[in-house]
Amino acid sequence: MTQTGSYHVETIASNMEAEIERLKSQVDLFWDKEGKHYIEYGLKDGMSVIELGSGPGYLLEKLLVTFPHIHVTGLEIDPILFNYANANVASHEADRCQMVEGSIMDTKLNEGSFDFAITRLVLEHLPDPIGAIKEVFRILKPGGKAVFIDNDFEMHIMTHPHIFELRALYDAYCESRYAEGGNPKIGRELPRLLKQGGFSKIDFEVISAHSDIVGDEKFFKSEGIGIPSKLVQDGFLPSKVLGEISMKWRNMIRKDDHSMVRQLYMASGEKPQ
Ligand SMILES: C[S@@+](CC[C@H](N)C(=O)[O-])C[C@H]1O[C@@H](n2cnc3c(N)ncnc32)[C@H](O)[C@@H]1O
Repeated sequence: MTQTGSYHVETIASNMEAEIERLKSQVDLFWDKEGKHYIEYGLKDGMSVIELGSGPGYLLEKLLVTFPHIHVTGLEIDPILFNYANANVASHEADRCQMVEGSIMDTKLNEGSFDFAITRLVLEHLPDPIGAIKEVFRILKPGGKAVFIDNDFEMHIMTHPHIFELRALYDAYCESRYAEGGNPKIGRELPRLLKQGGFSKIDFEVISAHSDIVGDEKFFKSEGIGIPSKLVQDGFLPSKVLGEISMKWRNMIRKDDHSMVRQLYMASGEKPQ
């Protein structure tokens, strides 16, 4: 199976192991808010839940720990991440979790199989997000719910004191993802895309993490230098700009009154009965 689009764990950052750790921290950064929204959107213990594009499986683990009777399926196209996810869920009862190697574009899973589907930080990397949404719709049971979460890089981490050069970093990131067929500003389009994919009862929220609430450490771990360094290596960002950002970032965190805030875009929909 060929993986297309703008997320490839081996090449998106300068160090793959660090990138996998970053994905884990990105789950931790938002989990308190995200978990509550999943429940609000209909997730219940005992349900059959799928995460599509599950990466190394950290969200699957959160679900398994939080909901003791849940059944989770992780679908992942990348063989390295598939193996990570398999290892991560292995400590849980085998009848509560399974990993499937495959593409969200054509999962080969039976129609009407799941009560709840989560697709997190995947659509923004796909050349055909509507095709993916239609496939998620197909494998849901009638009345089943789906949640899609993505970035919109018009807004990413904002700091106090403000670091003007972060805009250049996010623009370079967008240019790089667009060049590979992704859409790093898909967040704002999610409600319409879900409608086009067949969903009804669509809802939309922007959720946020703030350093004064979750602490600095989660922000540091969920960012890191791996992707910015790769943008420099690939010629999307001048090294001088990255140097300025690094210096201003260090100055920012030395200030007693510093803060960091980041958003994710979350849309939910229901497959009509
Ligand atoms: C940014 S990561 C997000 C991982 C995980 N959902 C999370 O929130 O931590 C994007 C994931 O989507 C996977 N992916 C990309 N294209 C895919 C496809 N066509 N089918 C399934 N997974 C895909 C990547 O391999 C990667 O694991």
